[in-house]
Amino acid sequence: MLVAGARPNFMKIAPVLKALERARCETTLVHTGQHYDDQMSASFFRDLDVREPDHHLGVGSASHAVQTARVMEAFEPILLDTRPDWVLVPGDVNSTLACALVCAKLKEETGTRLAHLEAGLRSNDWRMPEEVNRVLTDRCSDLLLIPSWDAADNLAAEGVDPGRIAFIGNVMIDTLLSRLPAARELALAREMDLTPGKFVVATLHRPSNVDERDKLEICLSALGDIARDYPVVLPLHPRTRKQVDAFGLGEALSPLRVTDPLGYIQMLSLVDSAAAVLTDSGGVQEETTALGVPCVTLREQTERPITVEEGTNRLAPWPLTVDGIREAAHGAIAQGRAAVGERSPEGWDGRAAERAVEALKGNPHEDQPGKPS
Ligand code: UD1
Repeated sequence: MLVAGARPNFMKIAPVLKALERARCETTLVHTGQHYDDQMSASFFRDLDVREPDHHLGVGSASHAVQTARVMEAFEPILLDTRPDWVLVPGDVNSTLACALVCAKLKEETGTRLAHLEAGLRSNDWRMPEEVNRVLTDRCSDLLLIPSWDAADNLAAEGVDPGRIAFIGNVMIDTLLSRLPAARELALAREMDLTPGKFVVATLHRPSNVDERDKLEICLSALGDIARDYPVVLPLHPRTRKQVDAFGLGEALSPLRVTDPLGYIQMLSLVDSAAAVLTDSGGVQEETTALGVPCVTLREQTERPITVEEGTNRLAPWPLTVDGIREAAHGAIAQGRAAVGERSPEGWDGRAAERAVEALKGNPHEDQPGKPS
């Protein structure tokens, strides 16, 4: 049973679902409905060619407690009814933790084991809702599928038995590599009258950047400054749009090319041809590293340090200021892009989902890379 709830989950489950089907495993797909707009959910199912979910929980938006509780209430009877061998939860959103808790509490009764896809990442910032979700989901899981070796170190520091950990690499990059030809064919930049390599893409949705007026204003003003030299495309997350309206910051959007949230292939097409990307998303940090596109992360720290150490990512100077963001962006643009895969960490190779299936079957894959010393 695979669970998906919010936008960043869909590109993670897509390749695993297909690899399970190829391995002739029976699969059940549960969509919690944490994200529900066409552009936040259904468009991803179309772009990634994922079948309709077998169960749709329809929980929608709410406070953390209410959203988590609604997923738990709706997921429990499905788990009891289905009793799969494995439940696979991806990422770090509220739906991930909610289903992990249900599995852990019913383990005696159902015999179902829980696997966490993208286990072991840590920002060490307990104020982030995702950090709480990551730590607790890992604690509940029988099998920890890790995307990079730093995750093994994080789990070891928490005293996790190495026998629970399987290195599989990054499933999101399986999706990226399989959709890159379609994204290049789309050539969205040209359609938007942008010159490839001469514009910037930005995304902003973290509560720490958008839920306080001053912080959101700094981010938007910095993007406005950058837009004097390079067009800045800002696909606006619904949370951010709501906050821009609530704080009366609409004017700060006027120098930017603001769009609705983009579909997967559209976003990939744009990011692939950008001079640089500014983001507070976790997934975009990984995608830019795989593509070789310079990235500036608008956060104090990242749970994906490998994208800085090996990839194309850098953290903007903290605390964020207009000058600091602008300078980091110009530094990133000057860095220039690398070839696709040139800066990719080990296991970000398009075969992570296959390794996930082998780990679920209890067979370390023959390609299972040894941990580097
Ligand atoms: C969630 C995840 C975050 C992830 C992000 C990607 C948690 C704690 N957060 O944050 O880790 O990076 O998804 O997008 O799980 N909304 C809509 N339509 C939708 C979904 C949301 O309009 O389809 C609006 C609602 O006003 C909602 C707000 O966006 O209240 C926030 O949605 P929510 O799912 O609570 O959190 P995200 O900020 O999307």
